[in-house]
Amino acid sequence: MRSPIPVVLAGYGSVGRAFVSLLCEKSETLRSRYGLDLWLRAILKSDGGFISDSRNELESFRGRLGRGPAGARLWRPGLTLKLLLPTAKPGVLVECTSSDIRTGEPGLGHIRSALKAGWHVVTASKGPLVVDLNGLRQLARKKHLSLKYGAATAAALPTLDVGVYSLAGAEILSVEGILNGTTNYILTRMQHGAGYEEALREAREKGIAERNPTLDVEGWDTAVKLLLIANSVLGLNLTLRDIQVEGITRLPTRKAVAAREEGKALKLIGRISKSGLRYKAEVAPSILDRSHPLFGVDGASKGITFATDTMGTVTVTGGKSDPRGAAAALLKDIINIFAVSSN
Ligand code: HSE
Repeated sequence: MRSPIPVVLAGYGSVGRAFVSLLCEKSETLRSRYGLDLWLRAILKSDGGFISDSRNELESFRGRLGRGPAGARLWRPGLTLKLLLPTAKPGVLVECTSSDIRTGEPGLGHIRSALKAGWHVVTASKGPLVVDLNGLRQLARKKHLSLKYGAATAAALPTLDVGVYSLAGAEILSVEGILNGTTNYILTRMQHGAGYEEALREAREKGIAERNPTLDVEGWDTAVKLLLIANSVLGLNLTLRDIQVEGITRLPTRKAVAAREEGKALKLIGRISKSGLRYKAEVAPSILDRSHPLFGVDGASKGITFATDTMGTVTVTGGKSDPRGAAAALLKDIINIFAVSSN
């Protein structure tokens, strides 16, 4: 067994809470199967943080640590990552703050500070990666640290792992993905006659849609994931401006119903295709034939299909679309840093 690995969690929203809960639930598996002892040292929020020197104290709250008596004892108002890093033995930062895709903050500052201080990073926040993926990857390489972001690229659906590891050496001719659970749920319901607003309301009631689903329904969440896949798997250097983006907010129900009646399916597809030597990236509602690998990916499920020169077409579908699935993707990335690979 290795010595305990310090873990600091930044962001205590639904994904951060699910991560704490999972850490507690999986601690025995982590020890017995991977020889890993993860030690949650601190949970940071925007106005302070919970911190403990006792083993398992923060995990034991299973993501329900509040400002009650126990929380008050562990709460340090004004605690920030920058204040914490110089005092702690390096381990892994789990970045889960809700970030801005224009500035990348606050996650961008967190990730830079953590890497500079010798911490590995796993992140579910997309903003920092949209703003400075290459800079962050270079910094991680320079410091011989890992920066992993599977949780930001469709979470429990393995997109980067398949593209980077499983398809290594193959030329990727195209990528198509249903990368957003909210829009896929809405379109699936619209194919059966529901109106857009009704389907969105249902997605909210089922906990699939976020409180503010604007980025999802306007296609930007898919575009961000596509961008990260393009730049990480295909080695491109795209920015969001290079991706043509159309969402689903203006689609009439009759178009979705007609697709189903013709034996087809209407999906929001993120697509990277090669034309000559150039790659083109776009997000758009698309009609899929029954023979398309993503035809049957319905409801909140997601999927990705890679066309390659040597391995044929490789498709992955499924992957849980909720905070627990995203937390599991964060944990998977941590396991792969410490227990499986050393990159
Ligand atoms: N809101 C996203 C979805 C998950 O519906 O898939 C976060 O990227």
